[in-house]
Amino acid sequence: MIDPVICIIPGDGIGAEVMASALEVLRATGLPLCFAEYGAGWATFQATGVALPDVTLAAAKAATAVLFGAVASPLSPVPGYRSPIVALRRALDLYANIRPTVGSRDGQRVDLVVVRENTEGMYAGRERTEDGGDTAIAERVITRVASERIARAAFELATARAEAGGRQAKVTIVHKANVLRETCGLFRSAALAVARDYPAMAADELLVDNCALQLVLRPEHFDVLVTTNLFGDIISDVASAWGGGLGLATSASYGPQTALFEPVHGAAPDIAGKGIANPLAAIGCAALLLGYLAGTVETSADYRAWSSRIAAAVAHVTAHGPHTPDLGGTATTADVTRAIVGTVTA
Ligand code: NAI
Ligand code: MG
Repeated sequence: MIDPVICIIPGDGIGAEVMASALEVLRATGLPLCFAEYGAGWATFQATGVALPDVTLAAAKAATAVLFGAVASPLSPVPGYRSPIVALRRALDLYANIRPTVGSRDGQRVDLVVVRENTEGMYAGRERTEDGGDTAIAERVITRVASERIARAAFELATARAEAGGRQAKVTIVHKANVLRETCGLFRSAALAVARDYPAMAADELLVDNCALQLVLRPEHFDVLVTTNLFGDIISDVASAWGGGLGLATSASYGPQTALFEPVHGAAPDIAGKGIANPLAAIGCAALLLGYLAGTVETSADYRAWSSRIAAAVAHVTAHGPHTPDLGGTATTADVTRAIVGTVTA
């Protein structure tokens, strides 16, 4: 059996800084992992004229899994530039974006997961202008196949959470079918059809704007939420506030062949280069990566054990420090990384 090959894409800004931390933690496990590093993002675009070079895409496809940092994307259109992470998700068919949040509100435990469709919706890339640039149009693409498979991923996850934690599991289907009658209408009916295959699982539905409010008022009532691409992007950021914010928010994207792990945060140009980025989200992603690799190797128990050990160390440092400035502390990225490595190898 060959050792897992991990395609490493650090990206721009703090993406590269937190990736270095995640790699340090992964190397400290002593697991037989092969790391292959490739470029993507704004710096790569400026150097080569493409944001996602063919070699990077080929390496990502060939690898056992991908670990991604963050990339900077210009706010105004730049000819030839397309967001490499959106392109990667589609090229690798990473349809299920899983964004967990664990934390608390007024002493109540918050433990929820946003399951976001990752390949279509508003991010289908169908944008154009008319009227000589005075009208801009985006097409929102929703298919039954993609809606059913993301709903199935959500119900499977809720089932696994119920079995693992003995908790009251529930799937909340989030949409705006009252206004977006065709697109959200299709998503809603596809998800409700999947719900009927899981008669033992509680399911309800919520309009996305109300969902945003409820995530602020009573996040402890949610378990698994499933929604379309743009809505999932936004409500998962809202939810992440209960878990200590972007510096802690992890995400995993699964497809039929491979998986990609990335912190939810971006390249954070305001703090890049200062050595104070919180590496815990990226390190948490490394733990999720090892959990995924456990399903691809014969020595899965080792991978599972290291995955839990790293996740526990992240929880410990989150609770007791050292903390970077985003969590109210004065520690550096290196301090936090050292604390994690010290904890997992103790
Ligand atoms: P951002 O996530 O980069 O930063 C938002 C705020 O959170 C900033 O104040 C930043 O300092 C703080 N922050 C984020 N991660 C942190 C960490 N690990 N430790 C401490 N503080 C942290 O989002 P923003 O500012 O909207 O975007 C900046 C750039 O990143 C843009 O070019 C954007 O396109 C890109 N971006 C890339 C993403 C990706 O690669 N998946 C996701 C989101 C944004
Ligand atoms: Mg986002």
